Amino acid sequence: MQITFAAKQSAALPRLVARIVARDTFPNDLPAHVREGAVAGRFAGKPGQVFETCYEDDGRLVRLALAGCGNGNGETYPGHAGVERAGAALAAKYLTSGETEIALDLSGTAFTAEQVAAVLVGLTLRAWRWDAYRTRLKDEQKRSLEKVIVLDAPAGTPEAWELDQAMVRGVEFTRELVTEPANILYPESFVARAKERFAGTGVEIEVLGEEEMRKLGMGALLGVSQGSPRESQLLVMKWMGGNPGDKPALFVGKGVTFDTGGISLKPPAGMEDMKWDMGGAGAVTGAMLAIAGRKAKANVIGVCGLVENMPDGNAQRPGDVVTTMSGQTVEVINTDAEGRLVLCDAMTWAQGQFEPDVMVELSTLTGAMIVSLGHEHGGVFSNSDALADHLLEAGTESGDKLWRFPLSAAYDKLIDSPIADMKNVGPRYAGSITAAQFLQRFVEDGVDWAHLDIAGMAWADKPGATWDKGATGYGVRLLDRFVRDTREG
Ligand code: BES
Ligand code: MN
Ligand code: ZN
Repeated sequence: MQITFAAKQSAALPRLVARIVARDTFPNDLPAHVREGAVAGRFAGKPGQVFETCYEDDGRLVRLALAGCGNGNGETYPGHAGVERAGAALAAKYLTSGETEIALDLSGTAFTAEQVAAVLVGLTLRAWRWDAYRTRLKDEQKRSLEKVIVLDAPAGTPEAWELDQAMVRGVEFTRELVTEPANILYPESFVARAKERFAGTGVEIEVLGEEEMRKLGMGALLGVSQGSPRESQLLVMKWMGGNPGDKPALFVGKGVTFDTGGISLKPPAGMEDMKWDMGGAGAVTGAMLAIAGRKAKANVIGVCGLVENMPDGNAQRPGDVVTTMSGQTVEVINTDAEGRLVLCDAMTWAQGQFEPDVMVELSTLTGAMIVSLGHEHGGVFSNSDALADHLLEAGTESGDKLWRFPLSAAYDKLIDSPIADMKNVGPRYAGSITAAQFLQRFVEDGVDWAHLDIAGMAWADKPGATWDKGATGYGVRLLDRFVRDTREG
């Protein structure tokens, strides 16, 4: 989407013009018949509501759209949710409408620069789609809207948008990674795409291959990838925008580019969903792009464990015992509980390498999390109340909502193994918690750690406020907001 700013007087207006309307408060300069028609059509300026009418002005056809923003701020979450939904609703309605350009007319309104930027955030996020593999789209199915011209925006809007745009680019990159099928996006091609996207951003990339991981003793991660001909990769992204001496925040992502379950094979129905089992890694990668894009004054490191979990003559078996990089041993009861096996070695290596004070890990880890929270919240587990609170707050502010779960010695005991230090699954119940307990065993002293189980959030089966059905980009706004609120100045 191309976005430009202009003064209304000097601009050539496109046919389609949008106004943002707060709850029950129409702009003063709205033609009386438009207001009457909107009221008759029960348009009340609710967030996401759109009313369209056509009229003639000076012999020219005007297609006028009124987009509701409620009270502007936070009808569903704090921040700029209302205005964001107004922008998103415009994108949803006009993306394939045949119109190529929309004017966002702000004349006579009192919106702040941040609110207008939020309209653009909603508009661009909702307009994202991935048509790379659609070769037979009919004209009316094709995206037509390519340009937004913002008229009479308040001072500071381009600057506010510049900041928000970095976040939007991060979300878009995450969605792209999550959407790509597993024959296209596998560990090495994930790395290649990241390298390409990070060129010129100031993010330093480092990659470990299987040979290096073997030497480091990452027996758990390599056990998972053993059944796949794809070479697993550890992708490291460094953004050192803070003081040189400051400890970094570390983000770790589960990047299982396809999860068949391995020898503990998943049933066929819905298995295609497991192309997005790299949603945690996708979120970490997109967040790094967002953070670097706005030149955040913080030291942040992203690490993604990228593997493919396949059944094969060489795949690991249920009952195998593997030695993790930490030295702890794991009895692999179920090869489908692979995410924690990948993450534990990535966490051990990254903690040793970067000595973070905070480690936040994201993963599509358990189906049980979807049973618990559905598609409304991600689950957060933490050894630090302060960190948990910061993340919960960042979640509320960004709209990437979280809900906290417990950890305790009683749950921890459930993964003790008769033959090794632990097993990789507990009993049937509390599956998300025992997964978190497993990960906690790899957290080093002095590190504030949080595990975010985003299994219900990375992908949506129906459109939401700022996404179409498909990849949501969940986690990017959360991490970006977290860095902004707790790691900068
Ligand atoms: N990637 C899955 C979890 C998942 C399931 C994410 C559905 C998104 C949607 C994970 O690797 C897995 O298979 N977990 C098992 C754990 C079980 C074997 C203890 C699960 O949730 O069934
Ligand atoms: Mn699995
Ligand atoms: Zn998985």
